[in-house]
Amino acid sequence: MMVETLRWREHRLELLDQRLLPATVAYVACSSAEEVAQAIKTLVVRGAPAIGVAAAYGVALQALQHAAQPRARFTSAMHQGLQVLTASRPTAVNLFWALNRMRALWATCETEAPAAVAQRLLAEAHAICAEDVRVNQTLGAHGAVLLPQEARVLTHCNAGALATAGHGTALGVIRSAVAMGKKISVLVDETRPVLQGARLTAWELMQEAIPVTLITDSMAGHMMAQGAVDAVVVGADRVAANGDVANKIGTYMVAVLAHRHEIPFYVAAPLSTFDWSLDSGAAIPIEERNPEEVLGFGAYRWAPAGIAVCNPAFDVTPAELVSALITEQGVVMAPDRTKLAALKNHSQCGIHSPPIFD
Ligand code: MRU
Repeated sequence: MMVETLRWREHRLELLDQRLLPATVAYVACSSAEEVAQAIKTLVVRGAPAIGVAAAYGVALQALQHAAQPRARFTSAMHQGLQVLTASRPTAVNLFWALNRMRALWATCETEAPAAVAQRLLAEAHAICAEDVRVNQTLGAHGAVLLPQEARVLTHCNAGALATAGHGTALGVIRSAVAMGKKISVLVDETRPVLQGARLTAWELMQEAIPVTLITDSMAGHMMAQGAVDAVVVGADRVAANGDVANKIGTYMVAVLAHRHEIPFYVAAPLSTFDWSLDSGAAIPIEERNPEEVLGFGAYRWAPAGIAVCNPAFDVTPAELVSALITEQGVVMAPDRTKLAALKNHSQCGIHSPPIFD
């Protein structure tokens, strides 16, 4: 069964409510930028590429909602919509990438009637959504080549179809490897505190009968020491120009362990996750989320009332711990600033071969 993370139905964006998985499969319908921003904030939709696609639809919905208004009112509603979406979550750069793309399209047709502008923006959101699936399939194929014919792959968080418009990035590599006939089994960290591994990755892989075993985050080192992990593949929320990678909290710990055990640590991410304006990972804004996420889960509280809590949602893995960055434009082995500059130039040339930057 193919997971449908986002879908356009009856003039609305429907988002698979990831807060309810795996117990319940239900969709939340959004009709405005405000509703999409709220869905992003509350993790109805999550994962860097999916956040970007949802935000693009948020801009289109805002335009459709205000299409009958005079231009000045339409323009002001659009600015307000862009602002509320921009403020929804800070770390995944795909959000800002998608909003910039929508803003740029709007700039080319500003003088047209609002209804025509809205249709153009909707077409752009559909294009961003379709492109995301294609890009993931391409990077998945590039990454699959790196995995041995038989491999036990550890992953952290959810960088799957649920985190994208389809196929996934880290899980895209796994899906593509399986499609190539490789024998892949997955070890998934539960991913405290929101449990994207236990709730989402486990569910997503089970839908397709890809062998998956759940462990707690603290078991990863032991499993590596036991020789039970051949490779680590994770996604990313933002990659800096030097190759430093922000991803779900706990990723850094996995990277250090992989290095200690000489296990390849791969990061799969589309170019829309690269932030060329940031010199290093130190400049990546790290979202601090609600302490409630650490104090317990759902309605259940296990920590004492009044305890101080720290809840950074992401961490930064230095480039030196990354064996390869897997993108739709090629694979960058042992990434550094120079190789990433080559990747950037290559992508701007519009060349679509899968080179290895080594
Ligand atoms: O807080 P989340 O669930 O949005 O965090 C998601 C991750 O960290 C993913 O690994 C990342 O966005 C890559 S998704 C292809």
